[in-house]
Amino acid sequence: MSRTQVGIVGAGPAGLTLGHLLHREGIESVILEARSRDYVEARLRAGVLEHDVAELFDRAGVGARMRREGLVHTGVELQSGPERHRLAFDELTGKTIVVYGQTEVVKDLIAARLESGRPLRFGVSDVSLHDLDGDRPAIRYAHEGDEHELACDVVAGCDGFHGVSRASIPTGVLQEFRREYPYGWLGILAAVAPSHDELIYARGERGFALLSMRSPELSRLYLQCAPDEDLGAWSDDRIWAELQERLGVDGWTLHEGPILEKGVTPMRSFVVEPMQWGRLFLAGDAAHIVPPTGAKGLNLAIRDVHVLADALVAWYRDGDHAPLDGYSETCLRRVWRAEHFSWWMTTMLHRDPEGDPFDVRLQQSQLRHLRTSTAAATALAENYVGVERA
Ligand code: APR
Ligand code: PHB
Repeated sequence: MSRTQVGIVGAGPAGLTLGHLLHREGIESVILEARSRDYVEARLRAGVLEHDVAELFDRAGVGARMRREGLVHTGVELQSGPERHRLAFDELTGKTIVVYGQTEVVKDLIAARLESGRPLRFGVSDVSLHDLDGDRPAIRYAHEGDEHELACDVVAGCDGFHGVSRASIPTGVLQEFRREYPYGWLGILAAVAPSHDELIYARGERGFALLSMRSPELSRLYLQCAPDEDLGAWSDDRIWAELQERLGVDGWTLHEGPILEKGVTPMRSFVVEPMQWGRLFLAGDAAHIVPPTGAKGLNLAIRDVHVLADALVAWYRDGDHAPLDGYSETCLRRVWRAEHFSWWMTTMLHRDPEGDPFDVRLQQSQLRHLRTSTAAATALAENYVGVERA
């Protein structure tokens, strides 16, 4: 039996950031990850960092490559049919966002972890959590053919939506809130310079489309599709033709290039309350999911572990357990703000296959309001760059 202060399940952005923040405060942790390092570092995910999340990475000493290679955006474009309108985040809120792939964030955090010398185990299996309602919880797992037991003060469940942590809480404790959407996203990564220097969110009769990017040479684009869309029915030519239809406006060209990766992402909203049981604290996708339209998933995960790290510091350093007791409540305020924002952006911009012309007129009116009212535009911008007080 080995022991640590904080046992962290999952080496996604949540688990790795938590381990790093704790390390900087001299708090020990062991991070256990089911997948291999190669798999985790190659997984294509989100790509937008809120202003304050980018600053947190700076302060934590893991922001150097993000500042060199990340793309600072001062606004986004909203498109409705053939009309495009820019929302200037810097003018509306004084803040900007950084476009930097989650994959890159994860690589930077793994590098920092390895440098710290603290344990990070890839390829663990049979992870199970024990005695979470006592003061000496434990994690059992298998690694490289051996069985292990790790005694901890607390366990951080950072193992994503399909992890074991949430499932280890007895039935009846958690309340679940969910919403499914009748659509998904077909996403591509393409070896072509982005056709625009900011993100374009487009609503139209054929459905939603998004132009995003990963670097000056890599475009990331998405198309609304069915939640169970058959990728086999989408040749590269068909994907580009559909993107041209949905994003095209007069006097602008969408440049095409080789498609390097494609995949279908389901869309759901999901929250559990509370985000804690006994000595187990859930963070990131283990506790909540947002549809990707507002780019909040990664940011919420980082904000959760920031709250958790501060609370653990107060507990270890001053014996003050109030911040830990308030963890769930503190996080859920921001989580629900992001849930609302993501649901709103999603329903405003997607074509509802079961919707009627009334729904379309509401979307058009909402988008017009964003073009004509600074108050409406500011509300969107504030949520997008990340609200200060949730
Ligand atoms: N044991 C150990 N690790 C596990 C287990 C398990 N039983 N189950 C899952 N994991 C690992 C996964 O392999 C993954 O690497 O936990 C990690 C969870 O990472 P993420 O899914 O990236 O979740 P999180 O860190 O909360 O980050 C949220 O990821 O899905 C995106 O849009 C989402 O950007 C958001 C971000
Ligand atoms: C992305 O670049 O992957 C991305 C950007 C904005 C979103 C969602 C995804 O809202």
